[in-house]
Amino acid sequence: MKMIDLRSDTVTKPTEAMIEAMRTAPLGDDVLGDDPTVIRLEALAAAMTGKEAALLTPSGTMANLIGVLVHCGRGEEVILGNRSHTFYYEAGGISAYGGVHPHTLPNQPDGTLRLDDIENAIHPDNVHFPRTRLISLENTHNKCGGAVLKPDYLVAVGHLAARYGLAVHIDGARIFNAAVALNLDVREL
Ligand SMILES: Cc1ncc(COP(=O)(O)O)c(C=O)c1O
Repeated sequence: MKMIDLRSDTVTKPTEAMIEAMRTAPLGDDVLGDDPTVIRLEALAAAMTGKEAALLTPSGTMANLIGVLVHCGRGEEVILGNRSHTFYYEAGGISAYGGVHPHTLPNQPDGTLRLDDIENAIHPDNVHFPRTRLISLENTHNKCGGAVLKPDYLVAVGHLAARYGLAVHIDGARIFNAAVALNLDVREL
């Protein structure tokens, strides 16, 4: 009997065609801008997501770490869910490497953070408080059962962030799954 292992999408293995594509990919020094495969992949990712640029990272954890550290300095604060991958499963990397203070809010069963909770968590400019810099969301939401965040919610969080001059980071480890579930172009998300 053929078994399908549904413990996680991470237990899948590359097909022969994928291994062949890796084996025959033209390579070069990425730092010197000489790796045509990385250049093509990053250009493709930027075009597919409607962003000005893309950066290949070896892991999703590293991508989240870079995302948070780009926006927050030491002693500054990111608002994120208590069930978010970045808070729960990334070994405290944002604190260990960046000195970034996580301000956790309860993730609702649908993966969202309540807008009121977010607004109440934003610190006023006061020397006692870590400065709030970033709101981090996850779509789809791993520890909320693969919940899909909808565009109207993302827009509402975006408006809230803009009102307070904050940045928004999306952990999009499975953003293409969210786009398929919503029948939307990933650019919309
Ligand atoms: C939502 C989410 N973000 C980030 C990651 C981290 O990805 P990686 O295992 O490539 O570090 C995962 C891994 O499953 C994930 O589910």
